Amino acid sequence: MRVIVVENKREMGRRAADLVVAEMARHHNPVLGLATGSTPLPLYEDLIRRHRDDGLDFSTCITFNLDEYVGLEGDHPQSYRHFMNEHLFDHVNVNKRNTHVPSGNTMDLDRIEAICEEYEQRIDDVGGIDLQVLGIGGNGHIGFNEPGSSLGSLTRVKTLTTKTRQDNARFFDSFDEVPTYAITMGIGTILNARRVLLLASGENKADAVAAALEGPVTASCPASTLQLHRYATFVIDSAAAGRLQLEGYEH
Ligand code: PGA
Repeated sequence: MRVIVVENKREMGRRAADLVVAEMARHHNPVLGLATGSTPLPLYEDLIRRHRDDGLDFSTCITFNLDEYVGLEGDHPQSYRHFMNEHLFDHVNVNKRNTHVPSGNTMDLDRIEAICEEYEQRIDDVGGIDLQVLGIGGNGHIGFNEPGSSLGSLTRVKTLTTKTRQDNARFFDSFDEVPTYAITMGIGTILNARRVLLLASGENKADAVAAALEGPVTASCPASTLQLHRYATFVIDSAAAGRLQLEGYEH
């Protein structure tokens, strides 16, 4: 695994953008897997700047987001569709019709199952994901694959842990408003991406990062399954790298 430790989250965004741009240059129709949360914001800011200042072209990109809450309309301010529009898509020349976020605006379980299957099919139809961007939860989750998720899982509905709901409550008026369910790509979906790029910043991610990189491969820390991936890169700031034993050694 490749581990790049940088000084701060701004630098994390810049290094991650270098890798995303390199991937975009490799393909006529780059297929990018994208993530929400605070962590990828410096990456998106850097990509927007490169679009504005250097003409970085997103017109041929196809994107798939990792996850979406169940029970929020796409225009709800806390939906991940809204997040992506606000923090990236509205500021670059991507064709919105080529941007995919699972649709979570139904509580009908049969419909949700169909949405999950269609999502996997769409990824297959464009030839798979070239580069998947990931954050990491304080509990080691990737996407909304909470501890205990099946290592072979595909896109499906998951119940969020109380820890994840507490972590995300800062974006809602109250804890009770944080949805209980989400649609998420599975660990299998993520491992199928040709490359993965995990970002982490801040001391509160240091234990999860250490478990992911240096602990056993276990469903108890879903990010540890990236040890099975051939092209996994972690770009993390020094605070998030603070509990690594092997820092300085290329994993
Ligand atoms: P964060 O979330 O970037 O807001 O810390 C990451 C995650 O839960 O995957």
